[in-house]
Amino acid sequence: MTSVEGFSATLAIDIGSLCIKPPFPHRPRTAKCIAFSPLPAAQLRRLRFVDKSRSAIQMTTKSSNMPTPSLTIIVAASSARLGIGLKGNLPWRLKRELAYFKRATTFHPDNLTNVVIMGRKCWESIPPKFRPLPSRHNIVLSRKGEVDGITETSKEVEVATSLEAALARVKENGFGRVFVIGGGEVYREAMNMESCDRILFTEVKADVETDVDFPVDFREDQKWKRKSHETLEDFVGGDVLKGDIVEGDLSYEFQLWVKSSNVQ
Ligand SMILES: NC(=O)c1ccc[n+]([C@@H]2O[C@H](COP(=O)([O-])OP(=O)(O)OC[C@H]3O[C@@H](n4cnc5c(N)ncnc54)[C@H](OP(=O)(O)O)[C@@H]3O)[C@@H](O)[C@H]2O)c1
Repeated sequence: MTSVEGFSATLAIDIGSLCIKPPFPHRPRTAKCIAFSPLPAAQLRRLRFVDKSRSAIQMTTKSSNMPTPSLTIIVAASSARLGIGLKGNLPWRLKRELAYFKRATTFHPDNLTNVVIMGRKCWESIPPKFRPLPSRHNIVLSRKGEVDGITETSKEVEVATSLEAALARVKENGFGRVFVIGGGEVYREAMNMESCDRILFTEVKADVETDVDFPVDFREDQKWKRKSHETLEDFVGGDVLKGDIVEGDLSYEFQLWVKSSNVQ
């Protein structure tokens, strides 16, 4: 993630427009159900058929009884030690990786607004003019309950004092996908949650200096399996560069890993 996401916004649009292609035939389709109903519009919007392959009809309404939303971690980390940060920032500057981050965290198959959850230090690493991250609902974790640059009147960003409190807000408001975007402390907590079942992992193939690492090596955990590139493209909604990508003197690769007990 992304001290310079705003900087790379133009690039992101360019890459997005070149790469996006129609939905894949094997992706579960959703169909909005339009009907006369006494339900308020906000709830009706969330009444929809999901995933025909499971023949399920899911009605999502504002309810604290809803299951905890599935969490997707998105992280760029070095091959050897899974290093992610240096002196409060990213250890590298990879424009195409930032463009991918923006696209992956913004895309939703039904155009819902996704949520990005981050730690206070991660928030502070984003230059003020580039935050909150646009077109996503930002939730910043801080045990103090207040964070520089976030006011009560902010619409696109809020502070939560725990990950559970953040997820409760997500459930109340019916957002789209939920991404945990770092840093190390928040990744650690997310990795301990049963509902954390996807990792969008950018493997940076170098042994660069870092002072914050991803907390666990999921690659050595039997529960986590790497999925195909097509499955990754399906999830992020379009073509993704395959294999090693070279930028400057670094190369990296986009990967999708899933926790096999949760996601097929
Ligand atoms: N490579 C990548 O993909 C990537 C992605 C993101 C960040 N990073 C890097 O990671 C580094 C920052 O990581 P970090 O581990 O030092 O910090 P962090 O996880 O970003 O933030 C830690 C802070 O978040 C708050 N926090 C964490 N867990 C919480 C919880 N459960 N409930 C409430 N508040 C909670 C606390 O804030 P308070 O002290 O205010 O209570 C804590 O001090 C930076 O170098 C950054 O650039 C890398």
